[in-house]
Amino acid sequence: MNNMLVTGGCGFIGANFVRYLLEESDFTGRIVNVDKLTYAGNPENLADIETDYKDRYIFIKADICDGKKMAQIFEQYGIDSVCHFAAESHVDRSIVKPDAFIQTNIIGTFNLLESARIHQSRMRLFHHISTDEVYGSLGMEGYFTETTPYKPNSPYSASKASSDHLVRAYYKTYGLPITISNCSNNYGPYQFPEKLIPLIILNAFEGKPLPVYGDGRNVRDWLYVKDHCIAIWTIMKIGTPGETYNVGGNSELENINVVEMICDILDEKNTLSDGRSRRDLITFVKDRPGHDLRYAIDFSKLNKNLNWSPKESFETGIRDTIQWYMDNRKWVERVRSGEYKKWIETHYG
Ligand code: NAD
Ligand code: DAU
Repeated sequence: MNNMLVTGGCGFIGANFVRYLLEESDFTGRIVNVDKLTYAGNPENLADIETDYKDRYIFIKADICDGKKMAQIFEQYGIDSVCHFAAESHVDRSIVKPDAFIQTNIIGTFNLLESARIHQSRMRLFHHISTDEVYGSLGMEGYFTETTPYKPNSPYSASKASSDHLVRAYYKTYGLPITISNCSNNYGPYQFPEKLIPLIILNAFEGKPLPVYGDGRNVRDWLYVKDHCIAIWTIMKIGTPGETYNVGGNSELENINVVEMICDILDEKNTLSDGRSRRDLITFVKDRPGHDLRYAIDFSKLNKNLNWSPKESFETGIRDTIQWYMDNRKWVERVRSGEYKKWIETHYG
């Protein structure tokens, strides 16, 4: 893999992955990062990488829904591998306005597959990043395995399921070398503060209400983003083409427990000015429509076949994440105020 196309590299997981690949992994090739820079894409996440890795990192502002542009990029940069993150990723937004989810997650993925198929002779691997949400919802027992039938419940998860099927079909029909990973909830640095963990960290820090959907008893499995990045690179290097791998964090928690842990850690650091515990800020709000009750991942295939397991526990990962948001207030303010969009306009038009 000499010329890897990374899509969505300016988003949360993509930026962590580019950073991991260049700074810590044994990858020796070049990365071409294609990102449309939606509200969730912030090239400032990789500003130092752009300077420090001039010869191995190229950023292109482009939309994966533009098939001609994608074909031109594959041709111009001799793309021989793909790690496809670009997506609309927030379930709540997909409920309010699903349009962009259908375009980017389905049509965008199709465009990339077509470009990869045209250049199939040099294509080493097309790795597709997916989610455990394609499997639907569990009751209080059991785990998702790679053979669990797909049963997506939100426009977001349905669009991701659709893209997974396309990727798999290109392997079966055309022999395109693909792998797919279905991962649980990530958390860590650079996550856009609309998702539960960064939203709660920032609101709790500032003494604002902490919105918890429904009764807060929904369960998610939490994975520290760097562990996800290591899993992806492991699959890309030694995974079997045509295969799907589940990735999980071994950290199932009810939402209310996650929120309470964040409150307690922040209270340890400093108390609110009125002396209240941050748990008093918890506000139960109207539930998400079609809210999946529980996700839990069986990642024994990835563990047994490729020797991967998560290194970070939730207890340590959440502390590091809270500290990152405390140490990066400027990033938070620029993302929240939309200030970074002005920077994008000046740099990339
Ligand atoms: P994110 O929303 O933080 O980032 C998405 C990135 O894709 C942004 O940089 C955005 O600008 C870019 N993008 C969106 N539409 C585009 C388009 N049309 N063309 C080019 N770029 C476009 O998302 P994330 O949380 O980093 O998720 C990345 C991938 O991982 C997604 O495919 C998501 O479904 C999957 N995933 C996420 C999680 C999670 O917990 N965050 C878990 C499992 C799987
Ligand atoms: O499981 C993997 C998925 O995890 C990814 O595919 C998605 O891209 C990613 O966004 C995430 O989806 P969730 O819907 O699980 O994540 P979110 O952070 O939005 O919500 C986590 C849980 O917290 C969920 O049960 C809803 C709840 N929640 C969320 C928000 C934003 C709240 O109770 N209050 C909130 O304000």
